[in-house]
Amino acid sequence: MRRSEGAALRIERARTDLEEIEIQLLLEGIRLCYGYDFREYALTPLRRGLTAGMAREGVQTVSAYQDRILHDAACMQRFLGTVGFNVTGMFRDPELMRCVREEVVPLLRTYPSSRVWVAGCATGEEVYALAVLLEEAGVLNKTSIYATDMNEDTLTAARVGSYPLDRVRRYEEAYAASGGQANLADHYSIAGRAARFNRKLQGSITWARHSLVTDGSFNDFHLIVCANVLIYFRASLQERAHRLMYDSLIRGGFLALGKRESLLYCPDRDHYEQVRDGVNLFRKTRW
Ligand SMILES: C[S@@+](CC[C@H](N)C(=O)[O-])C[C@H]1O[C@@H](n2cnc3c(N)ncnc32)[C@H](O)[C@@H]1O
Repeated sequence: MRRSEGAALRIERARTDLEEIEIQLLLEGIRLCYGYDFREYALTPLRRGLTAGMAREGVQTVSAYQDRILHDAACMQRFLGTVGFNVTGMFRDPELMRCVREEVVPLLRTYPSSRVWVAGCATGEEVYALAVLLEEAGVLNKTSIYATDMNEDTLTAARVGSYPLDRVRRYEEAYAASGGQANLADHYSIAGRAARFNRKLQGSITWARHSLVTDGSFNDFHLIVCANVLIYFRASLQERAHRLMYDSLIRGGFLALGKRESLLYCPDRDHYEQVRDGVNLFRKTRW
């Protein structure tokens, strides 16, 4: 390696080290100022979110971004929208939903009432998808769905239950693949360019702010759906979230995870069995 290359490498490393320190300071500041704790989030997606947020705010350094975020609550909300990874949709994993129809619903039928928790529900699309499924299976009227997210803004949108019509129409195929028994369109009304999900579905859902990082268990559940949230957590945080969900499941209850997630960091993984090969639906077999 030439001397100039070595110097360039050292400068680059110093810049990366400095940015690492700035990120740590930013996350600490956010925790102290707003109570959101991102310290154990996986660094790669967090960095991606930071870069996008900085570009949007037009700031050059993480320190400048920190200054804005700490002094401007609206900037913090925008940060949450970027780093909170709000991408979502209906029937994102049709196989999983089919498995819920075929394996979980029969169990729910045997209970006089049951509780479902959707953790990290973003703007609510997967919650309405689940409500549609339960409605078609005839168990929605005796099921309470608790849908939670750490981001109040996404919950506000979720409560309304209204989405762009052209986007909702595109979910028909995934709905059918998940075992849908009619048309998705039977479950919403159209107002202009929006599709609003029926009141009956909305009536079964309680929306609440809850963080998998800082909050505890608040009920026991027959089914917990936590999809595409754990991927953003480091191992230690995945462990915490898994413990919380395990403690919140009844014996014989089900845990549904996203396609790219697993029980790898679940301290109680030996107390679950996978319901169907290739599908991330697990049943708690022991206390
Ligand atoms: C990629 S979205 C997934 C949405 C939905 N579960 C799905 O699969 O389509 C991730 C969601 O997790 C939420 N989230 C991130 N960290 C969280 C935490 N610590 N506690 C609760 N929700 C969190 C974000 O606000 C975001 O709405």
